[in-house]
Amino acid sequence: MDQDALKKQVAEAALRYVVEGEVVGVGTGSTANHFIDGLAALKDRIPGAVASSEATAERLRGHGIPVLELNDVDRLPVYVDGADEVNEHREMIKGGGGALTREKIVAAVAREFICIVDASKQVKRLGRFPLPVEVIPMARSHVARKLVALGGRPEYREGFVTDNGNLILDVHNLDILNPIELETTLNNITGVVTNGLFARRPADVVLVGEGGGVSVY
Ligand code: 5RP
Repeated sequence: MDQDALKKQVAEAALRYVVEGEVVGVGTGSTANHFIDGLAALKDRIPGAVASSEATAERLRGHGIPVLELNDVDRLPVYVDGADEVNEHREMIKGGGGALTREKIVAAVAREFICIVDASKQVKRLGRFPLPVEVIPMARSHVARKLVALGGRPEYREGFVTDNGNLILDVHNLDILNPIELETTLNNITGVVTNGLFARRPADVVLVGEGGGVSVY
């Protein structure tokens, strides 16, 4: 099976976590897109979905799935999203698609975060994937200097603007021994909106698409 087939397989396995009669939170990226495509078959059983990005909202609407504002939803039993890396503690790096801030907000509201990945995303230690950091544009150089002082090598994601009107620095070379501590440290740099470490609020369930089927932990 190629990587995209594994993504589709794991996305379809996540459909059983959707709670009938309840709004579902939906992530961003190619794995999440497979989930949206599968969700279309269940659309008459849910009031709608909360989207973590404009791209996801557009795809949901394309399938006739109502898109609800997070502020109008008083409970969200489940949020389903992909990841760029995930470790054995269900901590993740996310934001390869640049939607990290809205993803983190929806994840914060959800009772259960279901992470869906193909096996290539599993790592022993987070950090091989450059860590995305969303930054207020006028703070770009300031934040970059602080990231260098922490041992990272920030790279400006040229030509990319987040749904919130900000920019992304992708940080290479970070030695992520303590993801919770680093997530907090980075969020405390003035000008940082959010970073792509999801460790303070890790996933609750990780589904992994691999050759022999889908494993769960
Ligand atoms: C987007 C994300 C995605 O979940 C992550 O980049 C994984 O993407 P894909 O499913 O396309 O491999 O965090 O901001």
